[in-house]
Amino acid sequence: MKYTVLVNKNNRISNNYLNKIDLVMTKNVLEEDIYIEQETYNNYLKLKKFISNELNIDIGIDTAYRDNNHQERIYNHYLETKGKDYCDKYVALVGYSEHHTGLAIDIDVKINNDYMYSDDNFDLAEPVLKKIHPYLHNFGFILRYPENKENITGYNYEPWHIRYVGKIPATIIYENNLTLEEYLNDFGCILYINKPKDITSFDVVNKISNIFGIKKVGHTGTLDPLATGVMLVCVGKATKIVELLTAEDKEYIAEVKLGIKTDTLDITGEVLETRDVPKDLNIIETLNSFKKTYLQEVPIYSAVKVNGKKLYEYAREEKKVELPKKEVTIKEIELLNMNNNTFKFRTLVTKGCYIRSLINDICITLNTIGTMTSLVRTKQGKIDISNTNCLEEIESNNYKYYKIEEVLDYKTIEVDSNLNKKISNGVKLSNEWNIKDKVIFTYNNKLLGIYENNNNELRVWKNFV
Ligand code: DAL
Ligand code: ZN
Repeated sequence: MKYTVLVNKNNRISNNYLNKIDLVMTKNVLEEDIYIEQETYNNYLKLKKFISNELNIDIGIDTAYRDNNHQERIYNHYLETKGKDYCDKYVALVGYSEHHTGLAIDIDVKINNDYMYSDDNFDLAEPVLKKIHPYLHNFGFILRYPENKENITGYNYEPWHIRYVGKIPATIIYENNLTLEEYLNDFGCILYINKPKDITSFDVVNKISNIFGIKKVGHTGTLDPLATGVMLVCVGKATKIVELLTAEDKEYIAEVKLGIKTDTLDITGEVLETRDVPKDLNIIETLNSFKKTYLQEVPIYSAVKVNGKKLYEYAREEKKVELPKKEVTIKEIELLNMNNNTFKFRTLVTKGCYIRSLINDICITLNTIGTMTSLVRTKQGKIDISNTNCLEEIESNNYKYYKIEEVLDYKTIEVDSNLNKKISNGVKLSNEWNIKDKVIFTYNNKLLGIYENNNNELRVWKNFV
């Protein structure tokens, strides 16, 4: 989380932080040598060019990276000239300044051909700086100490202090009027991703975590490297609803090659056997016979644990293990096409169903062998593949994210301040709305909590405050 590192009055910069970044040297408005983090500098130059072309405003760097001695000099200078009260509101103690990260810049603006120190010339500089603020996020910057957020950031409004966090976090922070603290602690969203082939679900999660600069990210149903399609990923606070989304039905289109058996039950595995495929197989009838609830054996090449050990580890060590069985329901299944020894089908299944295993079971019923050659998840719950974004779209900030309230089908109730207090404290409520399952409570459009009906009494299921 290199670009969203939080340094504030409660969070000191970590000792090894500088090992993670590259500082480059440049000049400040006084032509003195200064240092700044590489990516921050590249984006600053783009911002500067844009501001100059579009707004006819010339900006320069006052300070960017500061080492401890530098911060100490600044602190002592302001302590002597303006006093402790001023320092508490505007100057960080040594070790607690985000200038130590190399990602923060104090910018000066040129007025009447001279760069003005923004803090000493607040009344002149502030209106000019304010014109720049709406464009910062396009270059990955945020206004770190905005007005009316002093109680959260710990500092007064500093129109000159900008902070690089990366384009995606900066856009979310700007559009939702958040601070970095709020983004890291309170923000949550769900992404509808179209997973590409040949990467794991874990790779997708890691990628999203890096792009958003948020550690807590979770997916809601594994897709093997071979598989593509709908993958709902929860970011930040939205990880609280992972289990609800994981429980949703999923629709797949799978391709099967008959006459071949592999250890992983898909084409990526070792071939165990090949065999001629019998003629006149009744595939349609067999598929139809699978429209049922049955106990499905979990494939050995899966991360399901038995006695604390993952099943694929048993396979690798060639150790015997009894494969667990899980109840699954095949709600819909239909043949899409058949070509020589290959056929494609569409199916809608409940949570935890392995399509590789389903195919294996179908082949056993057909009295032959077969393996899965491709798999696309086309739907999860109500989310269709046509509503997904690929990773490149997300990386280039050309994507949509969804709020918890938008993704869940529960009723959302906007409450008054009295109920807000109760719900924030997790107080039980009488079920005056006649809720059958769960209900979402918001206050000022901010998610407070999800409550659950329990004998006509509403109890907290998940708290979001
Ligand atoms: N002016 C900011 C808070 C700093 O000293 O880092
Ligand atoms: Zn600053």
